[in-house]
Amino acid sequence: MRMRDRKVLITGGASGIGLASARRFVTEGAKVALLDCDAEKLGTAARELGDNAMAVRADVTNEQEVREAVNEATHALHGLDGLVNAAGISFWRSFAELTFEEWRRMLSINLDGPFLVCHAALPALSASGKATIVNIASGAGLQPRQNFSAYCASKGGLVLFTKAIAMDLAADNIRVNAICPGIVMTPLVERNLSLTGDRETAYQRYISRNLMRRFGTAEEIADAVLWLSSHESAFVTGSAVSIDGGSVFH
Ligand SMILES: NC(=O)c1ccc[n+]([C@@H]2O[C@H](COP(=O)([O-])OP(=O)(O)OC[C@H]3O[C@@H](n4cnc5c(N)ncnc54)[C@H](O)[C@@H]3O)[C@@H](O)[C@H]2O)c1
Repeated sequence: MRMRDRKVLITGGASGIGLASARRFVTEGAKVALLDCDAEKLGTAARELGDNAMAVRADVTNEQEVREAVNEATHALHGLDGLVNAAGISFWRSFAELTFEEWRRMLSINLDGPFLVCHAALPALSASGKATIVNIASGAGLQPRQNFSAYCASKGGLVLFTKAIAMDLAADNIRVNAICPGIVMTPLVERNLSLTGDRETAYQRYISRNLMRRFGTAEEIADAVLWLSSHESAFVTGSAVSIDGGSVFH
């Protein structure tokens, strides 16, 4: 029960890494609020997690919706000790084909989103006296990937945003860290693989890029989210932790 009585808000909590993290937190004694734009998946996730979970629907790019959702969650949980920013999107596009609209959408969800949620949650996190923020960035925020310029820009921005606000928020006893996952099998990645038209070739190309020769699991990322949100990482802030089967070496 490493998270006993901790209250944690998780964006993107209806699916993939966010949902796996929520399951882990609840198992370890936390109360969680799941924030997501997908009302249907949100309802299913909250029902699965039971009494220790609540759901708030919001689009992380909408300032008003974010403020209302964060306030609702903070009120219902009687405070906030942790925030996990896992809501995000990704798609492959060559630079020549990438439209400004697509660029804006990527930056808006993956970078404006964490900004808006962190900002809205700040008063509650400051009041906690021992709070944590974990931003789910990406290996693509540390190293370039072909046909991924918008995603790389959004996640590279998120890594440095994380480090910069770790400096600003240390005085409030808020630790801020990023996780940089490698390829992880989630609904998002399954969708992207299907869109390639040759799923098996794309799958093999991906696993050849890390030392473990496999995809990671959402649960393996959730373990790191839990660690960075718990007292066990009390001396860790401003870090970008790679959980990627060794792919940064390639
Ligand atoms: N899966 C991977 O291989 C991988 C690797 C590196 C980083 N990541 C990052 O991990 C995070 C989670 O990804 P995942 O693979 O679990 O994907 P996922 O699609 O399974 O989950 C993402 C969730 O975010 C929600 N979401 C999307 N846009 C939103 C918005 N505007 N407002 C609110 N919610 C929104 C979706 O509804 C979904 O429930 C993302 O930020 C992603 O970039 C994933």
